[in-house]
Amino acid sequence: MRGINKSFGAAHVLRDVSFSIHAGEVRGLVGENGAGKSTLIKILTGLYSADAGTIELEGEPVTISSPADAERLGIQVIHQDRHLAGRLTVAEQLYLGRSESRRGWVSRKALNRRAAEDLRRTVGLEVPPQLLVDELTVAEQQLLQIARAVLAKPRLLVLDEPTAPLAAAEVAQLFGTIQQLQEADVPIIYISHYLQELRQISGRVTVLRNGSNAGDVDLASTPDSPDSSDSSDSTDGLGKVIELMVGAAVEEFGPPRATRHPDRRSPALEVTGLAVPGALADLDLTVHSGEILGVTGLVGSGVDVLADAVTGNIAHAGHVRLHGQAIRSAHAFVRASGAYVPADRRKNGALVRNTVRENISLVTLRTLSSRLGVIHRRKEQHVAETFIRELDIRPARADAVAGSLSGGNQQKTVLARWLAAGSRFLVLDQPTSGVDVGSRAQIYTQISKLVDAGAGALLVTVDLEELVGLADRILVFHRGRVIAELSRGEASTDRILALASGTQQQAPDSISEPTSSLRTITREHV
Ligand SMILES: Nc1ncnc2c1ncn2[C@@H]1O[C@H](COP(=O)(O)OP(=O)(O)OP(=O)(O)O)[C@@H](O)[C@H]1O
Ligand SMILES: [Mg+2]
Repeated sequence: MRGINKSFGAAHVLRDVSFSIHAGEVRGLVGENGAGKSTLIKILTGLYSADAGTIELEGEPVTISSPADAERLGIQVIHQDRHLAGRLTVAEQLYLGRSESRRGWVSRKALNRRAAEDLRRTVGLEVPPQLLVDELTVAEQQLLQIARAVLAKPRLLVLDEPTAPLAAAEVAQLFGTIQQLQEADVPIIYISHYLQELRQISGRVTVLRNGSNAGDVDLASTPDSPDSSDSSDSTDGLGKVIELMVGAAVEEFGPPRATRHPDRRSPALEVTGLAVPGALADLDLTVHSGEILGVTGLVGSGVDVLADAVTGNIAHAGHVRLHGQAIRSAHAFVRASGAYVPADRRKNGALVRNTVRENISLVTLRTLSSRLGVIHRRKEQHVAETFIRELDIRPARADAVAGSLSGGNQQKTVLARWLAAGSRFLVLDQPTSGVDVGSRAQIYTQISKLVDAGAGALLVTVDLEELVGLADRILVFHRGRVIAELSRGEASTDRILALASGTQQQAPDSISEPTSSLRTITREHV
């Protein structure tokens, strides 16, 4: 891609951007939220057309004016905000528009069998192919999309934030898939805010800053030594990347904070006997005021439905009480001063057609309205501007339409809504998904501020650094039940990883809840 320019109205979001990739190369593409990564990819894949610039594929100039053009050229992409048709089955989605789907009319059984095999082989995903796409978690949908792209035997594969919803084991699986493609000489463009990942899988990294090329960095100074990824002497390349991204050095995680002393006598959230068929079995947990309880687990471990269940967004058995009030609906949860930042912001979070101001003030509206129900525009504007500043939402305009913001900036907007509402309890499901390093630190500060002021929080995350850095107590899920509880001092990313993947058991006497009553339910029981 050469000399790519793109404007949306008055906003010039790509300026003379150039980008190239060789056969068999995994090229990282990074930059702050709003730097222009997804826009560049959308031009490459025919969703947007460039105002100026040229594209060549294997030496030939190409015109890509629609996604169909890109597909025909063999360019496969996993977009950052995926939209899957919910009424299709997993198998149908896997082969939609491909020749295999016709065979489905002959024998659905054969199609399903084949889909199950293809999913296992390409991405290690084990879900019944006859399930509806809607019934999959965000992570499972992501793996399904990746499998679909891989099955198309692409000439070029683009992955925009592929690992945001994935836990460590799925990431490892994905990297295996990437390596296979690389050996088959398929070039892969890899966008991620998890900079550590780039060191594992990519050689060169292209950095965008404010819509321009900031430079390329070669991370492969120590090639062929994947097991040295945890040694700290190779952080230099990444340091350079971050510097190019933001124009200054940034600490990836803030300084260690003081230990909190949550009030153990005042439970904020009490969950007893919570069960969701096929996902969670007989769960008990308590979160106190002034405490962050972190939970994690692999896809299908139950953590992916936990947030929806405790916030009254999906049907479940058992009891949930927030600040003493029974929670049976999403409405009741908000009324009990609960805030919910869902993992899938497109589905449950951002109102993409509304402005940033309206998104942020959505929950606070009642306090901002006069008795006649008139919204105090000026107060609304003030609240919006405060959080745009605190979380560095870009562009810094309260009247920008949320749907036009970059992925990370939409995520920050959804978070701002609940931080602005001053809620006394936060349920955060992958709160920093797609958020860049600098903004992540700002979000952690805001969350800590609320908790230090007495709010409780349930943090569901696949980001283990985030988990260990923020949580006071950690529950690790495996196959629908809690298999370990770790205090802040006991937790390390390695330990959690081993527990979550089931390769290590916690000593039975250190588990606070008796596990004998916990049943394992798998999807097959649905
Ligand atoms: N359809 C649109 N209309 C108006 N502005 C847009 C549109 N799409 C993107 N933009 C703007 O273009 C800029 C670049 O956005 P882009 O989505 O490419 O960023 P990104 O680098 O992918 O960020 P992130 O890491 O948050 O995903 C942002 O300022 C965004 O607000
Ligand atoms: Mg993006």
